[in-house]
Amino acid sequence: MTKVGIDAVEIHTGKLKMDLAEVFAPEMGDDPEKYTKGLGLHASSFPDVYEDIVTMGANAAYKLMERKGLTPEDIGRIDVATESAFDNSKPVSTYIAGCLEQVYDGDFHHANKGERKFACVAGTQSIDDAYNWIRAGRHRGRAALVIATDTALYARGDPGEATQGAGAVAMLISEDPSLVTLSTEQGFGSADETDFLKPNQQFPSVDGKRSVQVYLARMREALEDYESVAGKVELDDVNLAPFHTPFPGMVRKAALLGFRHIIRDTDVEDELEPEIGRQPREAEFDSEENYTEAIRAYMDDLKRTDAYQEWYANTVDPTLYLARHVGNWYTGSVHVARVSGLIKAYEAGEDMTGEQLLVGSYGSGAQAEVHSEIVQEGWKEEIEAIDILDHLDDRYEISFDDYEHIHDVHNHEKDVDVEEFTVPQSEFVFDGWGRMDERKYRFVE
Ligand code: CAA
Repeated sequence: MTKVGIDAVEIHTGKLKMDLAEVFAPEMGDDPEKYTKGLGLHASSFPDVYEDIVTMGANAAYKLMERKGLTPEDIGRIDVATESAFDNSKPVSTYIAGCLEQVYDGDFHHANKGERKFACVAGTQSIDDAYNWIRAGRHRGRAALVIATDTALYARGDPGEATQGAGAVAMLISEDPSLVTLSTEQGFGSADETDFLKPNQQFPSVDGKRSVQVYLARMREALEDYESVAGKVELDDVNLAPFHTPFPGMVRKAALLGFRHIIRDTDVEDELEPEIGRQPREAEFDSEENYTEAIRAYMDDLKRTDAYQEWYANTVDPTLYLARHVGNWYTGSVHVARVSGLIKAYEAGEDMTGEQLLVGSYGSGAQAEVHSEIVQEGWKEEIEAIDILDHLDDRYEISFDDYEHIHDVHNHEKDVDVEEFTVPQSEFVFDGWGRMDERKYRFVE
């Protein structure tokens, strides 16, 4: 069977940076460790005045096409996943294709374009669509461009404000990919939930505490569904576990639950028994309350064991490095986590070829998806070529005053005139409004 997966990735970060401990926490009157330790976040990326979901997506896609030596004729599909769209009819992928056509001789007139919506899981769903399109043999030898792009802003004063971020991930989905192949097996946990939504409004309505519980519940269902088709997940089989990362503290909670699930009825549970006892089983308890309390106590003990801490340090922590410095990118977040884990493996000199990733995507509203990926021979060259770490260092650091202005610039209900903080170079920029209220873009040399 033809292997299908991710051939290459490029990441574009919003060009501004706000330090959470030094700039945000003092203004909120909070202990900086609430952010750095509790949420696990150090900084957020923000778009400069001339950046938006189209420019960030187009810049990531352009970089990817240039690096891989592609022309528009090589691309048969452009799918954009976003929660930040500004048009209910015309998809962002048409704007991005329009940008790219400014710099290439050819065009994308024969590429199927669309926009995927299911909160943060839509990026993974777009990869699914591309996978199915290739597997169905409808691609005529061409590849698909999947772009996850978001300005993940919350209303000022919302508890989610600390988790904001902005950036885009462009991925090339093809036959015989260089980076990872995707498993046919996948699991879903999906239910009608009211945890985070944007009913025709720019900033989300969020029930933060509930959203955390829904994430955990749906992810657990998705893992069980995945195991029902792929077989039980074994601890030693998984090298990295990139998960949707609204903030690293969320993944820390999910990882502990996942570890408990994976080791149940295994040698690891037996080995840990003398230290922390066996996992509580519901049937052994006379009330739900007692069972929940016993589980909580077991989890507290489990968290402190060397077995868990070593697994977390090797399998989960490397995937969180980038998120700590950019915040939540919604649809791009899990794809940033994958790259983060592979960058850390590359830096550690690990040979990842043939290793397995267990990938957990999540979108509010709500749906989790779990599948696995196998790292391919070309992974090192692909990861080496991604220059996101340099771009993170290049970001312009904003003060709280600057932040208030830039939040207003990207607030659709405000009309403010703010000078740009950085100078665009070799990139697409927002260039004002057209006669039908469409957003216009141009390439700056
Ligand atoms: N030192 C160390 N840790 C501290 C601390 C300190 N001084 N002060 C607080 N903390 C810890 C808290 O104990 C807590 O950790 P635990 O949950 O492990 O106990 C953590 O820091 C956060 O503190 P709070 O819970 O008090 O923070 P909050 O209530 O202000 O905000 C939030 C948390 C509700 C999740 C908020 O960030 C939010 O609304 N975020 C947006 C929604 C979200 O991201 N939900 C995640 C699941 S939904 C999803 O994944 C989709 C998506 O992308 C949005």
